[in-house]
Amino acid sequence: MHTDRLDIVRPDDWHLHLRDGEAMASVVGHTARRFARAIVMPNLKPPVTTVAQALAYRDRILAAVPAGMTFEPLMTLYLTRQTTPQEIVAAKASGLVHAVKFYPQGATTNSAAGVSDLATVYPVLEAMEQADLPLLVHGEVTDPAVDVFDREKTFIDRHMVPLRERFPGLRVVFEHITTADAVQFVQSATANIAATITVHHLLLNRNALFDGGVRPHHYCAPVLKREQHRQALLRAATGGDPRFFLGTDSAPHPREAKLADCGCAGIFTAHAAIELYAEAFDEAGKLENLEGFASFHGPDFYRLPRNTERLVLERKAWTVPDTVPLGDSVCVPMRASGSVAWSIAS
Ligand code: NCD
Ligand code: ZN
Repeated sequence: MHTDRLDIVRPDDWHLHLRDGEAMASVVGHTARRFARAIVMPNLKPPVTTVAQALAYRDRILAAVPAGMTFEPLMTLYLTRQTTPQEIVAAKASGLVHAVKFYPQGATTNSAAGVSDLATVYPVLEAMEQADLPLLVHGEVTDPAVDVFDREKTFIDRHMVPLRERFPGLRVVFEHITTADAVQFVQSATANIAATITVHHLLLNRNALFDGGVRPHHYCAPVLKREQHRQALLRAATGGDPRFFLGTDSAPHPREAKLADCGCAGIFTAHAAIELYAEAFDEAGKLENLEGFASFHGPDFYRLPRNTERLVLERKAWTVPDTVPLGDSVCVPMRASGSVAWSIAS
């Protein structure tokens, strides 16, 4: 479909890093301007592991939403070896905690408190299956013997397949998938297994990491993959399958933390997220499927009502600033100093 104007139900972001304190206050407006709700990741320092911490974090986010904007943070817990089945029951009962996030220990930013082997937390997963609380999975092995570009595929074989067999009733979101293998795994599973797809994995392949030199602002976890994988993700996202939905994984880091001897993983996209997704869907010739991916499939999977407000996008280019404020520093956003083809009209 070719159109210069898209009038869609207001979208949600099903995977977002907001950080905390001043940094959070400086980025939350980018998301609230576009999305009605977001699944907020719990990888703070220290991580959000209890319902009480999640509710306090939620209050801090709500207090930081700029005046005149409405935004609902959907909270998550960080799964550790100390997580108890009782905490899962309390999470479900709160009505405000919507999922539990599994980080393989050492896989990414602030994952030191993660679980090294899913099998060690099976009692908690049983409680989640019973309570019908979704598990959000960062699907990469951390085994140093596995090539960094193969970590997602190996995770599927070693962990996703056994998980699906052991807990057929557990709802699982395979987060920020990056490979054709993950697309195929989700497509071959039941409706209990879904996946989020970031906009940077839809628009960039791994050449973007080495475009004339090392590009630290394109470094994220899971790392960008080959063009054939980007093509598979684009087909999955734009194809109308309700098991794929929008999750930006927008992950702000201070510029100096990205430009370090050991630079942090994470790409910041909240400043232009839905506009960049429109570019990707336009590339695929599937703008008519953006609304399902961005506004319907996520709430349907999470069993939440769809939004009723609307968002209008128009084909009108604008220039991204070279930096955006982040606490007492700055963050370099995706497409910094470059042009984005779509704008928000209302
Ligand atoms: C995320 C972050 O910075 O918190 N980084 C990233 O590269 N995506 C963590 C994560 O989701 O892996
Ligand atoms: Zn993330």
